[in-house]
Amino acid sequence: MAFQKPPGTQDFLPGAVERWQFVESKAREICRRFNFREIRTPIFESTELFQRGVGETTDIVEKEMYTFTDRGDRSLTLRPEGTAGAVRAYVENKLYGEPDLTKLYYIGPMFRYERAQAGRYRQFHQFGIEALGAVDPALDAEVIALGYTFYTEVGLKGVRVEINSVGTPAVRAAFRERLLSFLEPKRSLLCKDCQSRMDRNPLRVLDCKVDQAHFEGAPSIVDSLDDECRTHFDKVQMYLSDMNIPFSVNPRLVRGLDYYTHTAFEYKAEGIGAIDTIGGGGRYNGLVSEIGGPDQPGVGLGLGLERTVLLLEHQQTELPDLNAIDAYVIALGDAAEREVSKLIYGMRQHGLSVERDYQGRKMKAQMKSADRLKARFTAILGDDELQRGEIALKEMATGEQRFVKLDQLADAIASSK
Ligand code: HAM
Repeated sequence: MAFQKPPGTQDFLPGAVERWQFVESKAREICRRFNFREIRTPIFESTELFQRGVGETTDIVEKEMYTFTDRGDRSLTLRPEGTAGAVRAYVENKLYGEPDLTKLYYIGPMFRYERAQAGRYRQFHQFGIEALGAVDPALDAEVIALGYTFYTEVGLKGVRVEINSVGTPAVRAAFRERLLSFLEPKRSLLCKDCQSRMDRNPLRVLDCKVDQAHFEGAPSIVDSLDDECRTHFDKVQMYLSDMNIPFSVNPRLVRGLDYYTHTAFEYKAEGIGAIDTIGGGGRYNGLVSEIGGPDQPGVGLGLGLERTVLLLEHQQTELPDLNAIDAYVIALGDAAEREVSKLIYGMRQHGLSVERDYQGRKMKAQMKSADRLKARFTAILGDDELQRGEIALKEMATGEQRFVKLDQLADAIASSK
């Protein structure tokens, strides 16, 4: 029996993986400009970290975690998201002791046992950032701006930014009561999910896609904010406007993780079936202390890379051809054959991307390979040329052909870039 990959996972094959490389290199480059530095944390962590960090009543912790017991009887979980692990590492390595803010980024796989569909997988990848150590609303705006810059610079069109304030735990508790008194009389009209959410996490009810008709006149969290929350929210909007980042306020935006305080935001775009959220984040002022660290605030985001790549394909964005090689070298004759191994090794040492034939194919088949690989040059070495210490070099774009000295081949190709 042939094996198949587990449901909800993907193989990224040559030809498609280049888009991933492009997107990831953009993420790294933008992080450098915004002065975020990379952190790499384990793919699995103690289960309790996510229970405490992400929240016991979230869908993620209740239904979606890949949890297992290892041979030492520890309960471990494949990370469903990146924030909890990054914050754990921040606390464990006492990064909060440094005089400057801690600005971290990560790119890597996350795992959630969800129903797989276009844009939703069980192993997926996030580009995430976390800025720890300041409550300044300018930092919330910087994080939102970084995500917006990422989407713009990879070439996505039509990305919208929606923001909300989910307040402090005290604000939320008061709002929860107001909301429940509004929802209670409608309980029987709402879908099963909403009915159970009313008991566990009523703020998420307003997020429901099917019940929107029943929410006319629902209380809004934005009207329930206290002065501190309101000022913070106003300033985030002010900074975003100053930077010309287009956004809209969505008072019904609630995120699927429990740690948010104040700012919550999402990036949205059309084109992946029923899914329109492509990234999200927010401020989490209580999380560091919740998992045993000092009382340090934080703000961050997570952007789904599958959704980014799917949309780029959907929008047929041109990809820079990262795969074209510099030269394809063809040997004609036994002596030339032997020389070519050494020759292309030297070219590769010189920084050029080079390929040759290893299957004893005819010259015509090799020329076709050179075309498929989009080689900028084809170099043909016959035994006669070898005796003269030369090689025939053809530039594919112009068709121009000349002889160059073997020891000048690499330079000749490199200098024509
Ligand atoms: P999240 O909203 O759960 O936030 O996930 C962020 C993004 O990851 C989503 O918008 C989506 O693009 C992608 N994503 C989530 N689940 C899947 C899935 N099953 N398949 C494909 N893509 C998926 C977080 O994870 C927070 N840690 C973000 C954050 C960082 N907040 C503060 N700092």
